[in-house]
Amino acid sequence: MRKLFLLGAFASALIISSCGGDQKKSQNTDAAAGTRQATSESTDAAPVISNTVVITGNDQMRFDLDEIRVKAGEKVTLTFKNAGVLSKEAMGHNWVLLKPATDVAAFATEAMASKATEFIPTGSKAIIAHTKLLGPNESDTITFTVEKGEYEYICSFPGHYGIMRGKLIAE
Ligand code: CO
Repeated sequence: MRKLFLLGAFASALIISSCGGDQKKSQNTDAAAGTRQATSESTDAAPVISNTVVITGNDQMRFDLDEIRVKAGEKVTLTFKNAGVLSKEAMGHNWVLLKPATDVAAFATEAMASKATEFIPTGSKAIIAHTKLLGPNESDTITFTVEKGEYEYICSFPGHYGIMRGKLIAE
């Protein structure tokens, strides 16, 4: 961290000595870049593993997490919030965890036909856990336990799974 900052400062000094006009601007930009780099490096070194998860969905059809890491074999408590303002009918969201090797497109098609059960195909063996379908400002908390492995999660509201999806890694 300190080393990176010094490198940034050194680079700034070079820029300052080589050009006259935008001295302050160059210096600020370099310092900020150094800090960013150091921050992302430390994040890579220690991925967060937690069995208490909070995830949101929004009106842009996005989850705020595209990867979740949990400890295998221990109960996970997951809270899903709809952070949007659009109506449940237009932009409802749920969080559905699928068994490994599930054909996600086929599952989503099945889900689309399950409007009466809020896009959860009740007989499906592909579902490990799911929240309720949420309207704006609603949230739902569920618990589940998974074995070591990689799992996909999606929002099964029609048309959302293409971009509302992510990976849960249990280790
Ligand atoms: Co959705």
